[in-house]
Amino acid sequence: MKTDTIPLYEQVADEIASTIANGTLKPGEKLPSLRTMKQRRQVSMTTVQEAFGMLEDRGLIEARPQSGYFVRRRLPRLPAASCPSPEPQPIVTNPLLWRYLRYVAESAGNSFACATPSAELFPDRALNSMMTHTLRRQPHLITEYGRSDGLPELRRQIARRTLDWGQTLSADDILITNGCVEALNLSLLAVTQPGDVVAIESPCYFGVLQLLETRGLKGLEIPTDPVTGMSVEALDVATRYGGVKAVIVVSNFSNPLGALIPEANKRRMVQMLAERGVPLIEDDVYGEFYFGRERPLPCKAFDTTGNVLYNASFTKQALPGLRIGWMAGGRYHAELQMQKFGMSFCTPSLLQVVAAEFLAAGGFDRHIRQLRRTLCRQVHEMLALVTEAFPAGTRITEPQGGFLLWLELPEGADSQSLFDAALREGIGFTPGQLFSPRGEFSRCMRLSCGVPLTPARVAALKRLGELAHVQLS
Ligand SMILES: Cc1ncc(COP(=O)(O)O)c(C=O)c1O
Repeated sequence: MKTDTIPLYEQVADEIASTIANGTLKPGEKLPSLRTMKQRRQVSMTTVQEAFGMLEDRGLIEARPQSGYFVRRRLPRLPAASCPSPEPQPIVTNPLLWRYLRYVAESAGNSFACATPSAELFPDRALNSMMTHTLRRQPHLITEYGRSDGLPELRRQIARRTLDWGQTLSADDILITNGCVEALNLSLLAVTQPGDVVAIESPCYFGVLQLLETRGLKGLEIPTDPVTGMSVEALDVATRYGGVKAVIVVSNFSNPLGALIPEANKRRMVQMLAERGVPLIEDDVYGEFYFGRERPLPCKAFDTTGNVLYNASFTKQALPGLRIGWMAGGRYHAELQMQKFGMSFCTPSLLQVVAAEFLAAGGFDRHIRQLRRTLCRQVHEMLALVTEAFPAGTRITEPQGGFLLWLELPEGADSQSLFDAALREGIGFTPGQLFSPRGEFSRCMRLSCGVPLTPARVAALKRLGELAHVQLS
């Protein structure tokens, strides 16, 4: 995005935010007064006030009565928190997952569990009327099968959105799927055989663990940094001797860590795996939720050999119920097309037409811009609340995008029993154990910031902090 399209107050807020991020302004330090800021930056008082308001919303600064604005104190950042497995593990789903998923399906209200923005943040009215109009104009959409590879216009719209990557994809490189999860499943089908070893993140999204289990695959957990994601050095060692048949990674704002793999690491990973003939299965469902100026590039942008199988979806962004996902499988494309036919024949055409129209008419871009800002604000508000409410010694991630927070509670905590205690009071979150094939991360929890912080939810979050205190007392 060009600077001239960003409101001035937001530019000022971003500049101050980066002086906080780079340590020039430290936690607890006083910011220059509004008047000084106005003079220094040659902007109006309203601009400075709006910029400070935005920084307050992001939880970066706080106003103290009679004293001015200060950089907020934070919980310690999470140190490298992964639990790499010494050797490949067969995956067995933690029985807690079924209880957790039942809760997610039935819960409403004070849940910080679900990794999807809540329904009130989606343009449901616009989509409903698009759906009705589409069906009226094209009734055959529900009386006929659709194409197995997906609607050409939707594939074209998606290809158009990848032009910024500098790595041109055409509509023919793209396959439409039922959510990202089907795309990941197809990717694994195309490049692995039961019993193979797949390198995964640690902690790893439980949906991926379950896919590995269903396919009879073993997982090799690679150390994963909460800020920079999967370690390229560890991956280098793990893939040197041919035992690893594929790598699966969430490149941008991972789940649960919110890690963003730096561009240099993505480039290196892509090149190294291509040289070794190890396919890279990239999951980019969160890439659109960046807090900075530009969307981070996916690994696919550096793929010159077709070795990256790129997987994404619109489900987190706008259309969870439509289940529209897509993939660009590189040199596996033809095989993936056949597998898609075998797996689900096709993705419903009606839903694809609605998605294509939403993209073509510009509605999606307007919506995602707004959603990105809302989620950024919610993440920072939650960070500030967690800092106040949770026991001293709690560590937390500070993601640069996405809408997930990962907490590590102090020694003595157990997130599964905290989950049970919270559930009895109607409060939900995701226990850390679900992100490990070996039940690790028992002191960790994932909080989703996808829900707007109503007074009831603020109270619920504070209560969750109290329950953590009670557990440790
Ligand atoms: C990392 C990751 N990949 C894939 C998915 C599933 O995406 P979809 O709903 O598009 O199938 C999720 C959902 O939580 C996720 O967190």
